[in-house]
Amino acid sequence: MIIRQIKFTGSSPSLKACPAPDRPEYAFTGRSNVGKSSLINMLMQRKNLARTSSTPGKTQLINHFLINDRWYLTDLPGYGYAKTGKKKIRQFQKLVSDYVLHRENLMSLFLLIDARHPDLENDRDFMDFLGNSRIPFAIVFTKTDKLSSNQLDKNLNHFRKTTLQRWESLPEIFLTSAGTSRGRDEILDFIEKTNTLFKKR
Ligand code: GTP
Ligand code: MG
Repeated sequence: MIIRQIKFTGSSPSLKACPAPDRPEYAFTGRSNVGKSSLINMLMQRKNLARTSSTPGKTQLINHFLINDRWYLTDLPGYGYAKTGKKKIRQFQKLVSDYVLHRENLMSLFLLIDARHPDLENDRDFMDFLGNSRIPFAIVFTKTDKLSSNQLDKNLNHFRKTTLQRWESLPEIFLTSAGTSRGRDEILDFIEKTNTLFKKR
């Protein structure tokens, strides 16, 4: 897919405030500092579309970008950072669970997981929530450049094994690096294919 046009359409504090669900939508979330902003910038080949920051947990709004006038890319808040505090974490849970459960044009949620830490409780819990709620999602391993291919294989196998202890099948898994653009074509191809399945209600 060629990214011809990116239009920021706004930040929403709630599901109700999101743009009309008239186009297929793909949302990105994960633990704070997992590399979400970097991944979005990499996919869109923009330096500063989604702000990358060294202060984790900043984004508490749902940000929508309209891509090629055809599909929405959605930057969801990150979750579960220790410094965020319990109140913020509850706010996140309410906002994001509301969004993923009721956003009718959501084709897939991309759950980002740091390739160095494939088995964090937060990520497992959120994945299980998505699975139990029948929300379509894919896993994106981030920062793969920080590991040797050997170590990456190990972590991937560990992730597959622990997931298959709880689930009958594995979700789609993308291996990415914001630095090298690894995984970019695969994710954009997946989105392009999935776009054709969208039916307006
Ligand atoms: P918050 O929005 O603050 O929760 O973080 P985020 O998930 O958007 O992460 P962000 O993209 O800001 O990246 C966090 C840190 O990880 C930054 O220092 C990035 O430069 C670094 N980083 C992100 N992706 C990669 C990657 O693929 N490779 C490497 N080596 N570093 C990365
Ligand atoms: Mg960010």
